[in-house]
Order: sequence, then structure tokens, then C-alpha cells
Amino acid sequence: MAYIAVDNLKQGMVLDADVHDVNTRLLLSKGQKIAPNHIRILKIWGISGVSIVGSANEKDEDVPPIDDKNLERIKKAINLVFKNADLKNPLIREVYKNSLIHRLKGAFGNSPTLNCHACTENPIPSKPEKLKNRIDQSDIKLPDAPTIIKELNQVIDDPLATSNDVAQVVTKSPSLTAILLKIVNSAYYGFPSKIDRISRAVTIIGTKEISGLALGICVMQAFKDIPKDILNMDAFLRHSLSCGMVSRILAAQNNLAQTEQLFVAGLLHDIGKLVVCKYYPEHAKVCLESGFVSNASIFEAEKKIFGLAHPQIAKLLLTKWNLPSELTSDIVCHHAPSKAHDPQKAGIVHLADMISHGLGIGSSGERSIPHFDYHILDNMTNSIDRIKTVFSQIIHQFSPMDAIFSDISK
Ligand SMILES: [Fe+2]
Ligand SMILES: [Fe+2]
Repeated sequence: MAYIAVDNLKQGMVLDADVHDVNTRLLLSKGQKIAPNHIRILKIWGISGVSIVGSANEKDEDVPPIDDKNLERIKKAINLVFKNADLKNPLIREVYKNSLIHRLKGAFGNSPTLNCHACTENPIPSKPEKLKNRIDQSDIKLPDAPTIIKELNQVIDDPLATSNDVAQVVTKSPSLTAILLKIVNSAYYGFPSKIDRISRAVTIIGTKEISGLALGICVMQAFKDIPKDILNMDAFLRHSLSCGMVSRILAAQNNLAQTEQLFVAGLLHDIGKLVVCKYYPEHAKVCLESGFVSNASIFEAEKKIFGLAHPQIAKLLLTKWNLPSELTSDIVCHHAPSKAHDPQKAGIVHLADMISHGLGIGSSGERSIPHFDYHILDNMTNSIDRIKTVFSQIIHQFSPMDAIFSDISK
């Protein structure tokens, strides 16, 4: 099996997997021999690449010559990422192997680190009061939801909402409108003619998809003014976007209807860290510091130092902001998917997080992959066989979206 960009698809090649559009509608079936009109169909529906039988895309496997010094550096970096992972497990081994191949090919350059005291050699700040105590004493003040998020929630909750209802809410924010129009006109969706209005984007892509996308972007925008000495927001956004895009790829592979919801869950999976960085910067510094000094995962450090980790903080925020409960569960359980309301969906975000760490796309502040929940494999189909395809797809799809999402932090 090989993953190939639609532009490189040739007549006579045979599909190795079903091809769905962004709404999971089946376009072409596995085993279909490619004819010229199929290539046109795939382009019209915005498919950027497909899996084909054989090895037509062997170039993707080529690793360029690399000197010993660079090889050692990359291996050292990736071994740190997988330090706590069980490489005897076939899935982890496959993720490790593909991560190494793409790092050797320089797919995403050097992963930027988050700013932290350890990086700048500043003294370690004193331990702040436990966040859990502050919450138990109702001393913690989480921000109110921005108005646009409240209005988007109402649209998402309303089964009779029309494309105009969504457009009316979205267009109140010029920056949100601009980002959404860039996304729907990007190579990722690949529509042949320009979409110049949000109402048209909703008609073509779907009410749930556009309102979900808008919600994810608005939540991220609410945290864009975090001071640079606390967090490198660009790096954080890249990690979040990668997790969202890989989640959507895995959702499509598992034939789930809610691929957009999984994208938003992946995009927002570490939102609890942003809450701490924005409203409790002294806690954030201690935690990032601890990760660098002790090599502990931030998730573990948060639990040990604050008695509360970022998924629980996310739960408090997302519940207060009335985000859909299914979406909240996928986010809150991204480190322990077997405890989720829907373990398969939370498991997809969990695996997407690991793949994003493996590739080194951006940074969430974690240096190593957090504890892996192996139960997720019970709920996923063909996950090991298809890992290579997931890597090929994210490599092809990431750049156009990355350029657009970087606007969120501006
Ligand atoms: Fe996390
Ligand atoms: Fe993450």
C-alpha cells in the first residue's frame, strides 16, 4: 500500500482503501481502478490524497543521505520523545518507525520548544499554592465564555439552525470569518471555485462542520494573548492543529461520521494548559520547569504539584462554557480514553497526540509521550496497518492549514 497525492494519481492505479469526502460520504470504493473521471471527482470533492495498491509512491520511503552527527542528534531527540513508551508494542513501534523516517526526511524541521525558566536558566520559581485547594475553596475564577461562543453553542444545539443562522453568528467576528474562508478555500478542501461567503461555506460543507470549526477557533482565540515568556503560542498551536488533523484522519479511517468533531477535540485537547498559562502563570512556570528538570511528563507534574492535571482544568472550563458534552468528554479523557463516554473517539485523540509528538510538529511543552492507554486498540480497526498512511496524509495536508491557523495567535 502507498499513499499518493491526487495530483500524482495515474489512470489504472487501484485504490487500497475506500475514499470518503469530508462528510464521510463514500466517493470511491477500495479495489476501484482509477479512470480519468475519478481524478476529477476526487479533486472536486477536495480529496488531497488516496491509498493505492503497490508502491507507486516509493519516493515517500526514501530517506535522504544524512551524516552520522545529524543522525545521532535526531535519534537522541526521538528516543527522548519515546522514553516512556513500550517499543515492544507493535503500534508504538510503528509510530516510532514512521516518526523517525519523517524526522530524518526533515518533514517539520526542528520542533520549537515552549519558553520556560529552564530554557532561559532563570531560577526555579517557588511552588505555588495547590490549584486543587483553590478550586475546592471556590477560590478559582475561570473566565466567562465570550459572547460569540455562547451564540455558537445555541446554533449547534438547534437542530433547525440554517446556514444563514450560522453565518449571522460567524460574521460578527471579522477575524473568525477571514480564517474560516481561508480554510474552506484552502488546498485541504480543494473546492474548484472560490467560496466567498460563510453562508455558502455552510451550505457546501455543513452546518455542524462549520459551527464546530468556528467554535474550536474561537476557544483558541480566547487564549491568544498569553505572554510570550510563559508560552510559545505558535508552537502550541501547531501541536494542537496537528493533533486535530491526525484525529480527523483517524476518524475517517475508522468510518466515524463525526470527523469534524474529532478535529475540534484534537485541536482543543490541551486547552487546560492554556487556562493555566493565562490565568495562573506562576503555576504554569513551575510545571514546565518540572518537566525539563525531572524529565517527568507535564501531565504527571501537574498532578503531583497542583493535585490537578490539565484535562480536569479543561473540564471545568468547557462545562462552564457549555460546550457539547461529547466534545468535552473526548477532550477531558485524551490521556485516559478508556474512561471516556466514547472510548473510541477519545482514543483517537490519544493516538493523534502521540503521533504529533512523534513527528515533532510544534510543542505542547511535553518532552516525552505521556503514558499510553493500550485499551484504545480494542476499539480501533486496522490501526497498526494504517499508521504509515496516517503519517503520509498529515505530511501532505499540514502545511496549507498551518499557514492559516497561525493567524489565530495574531
Ligand atoms: Fe494533554
Ligand atoms: Fe498534546
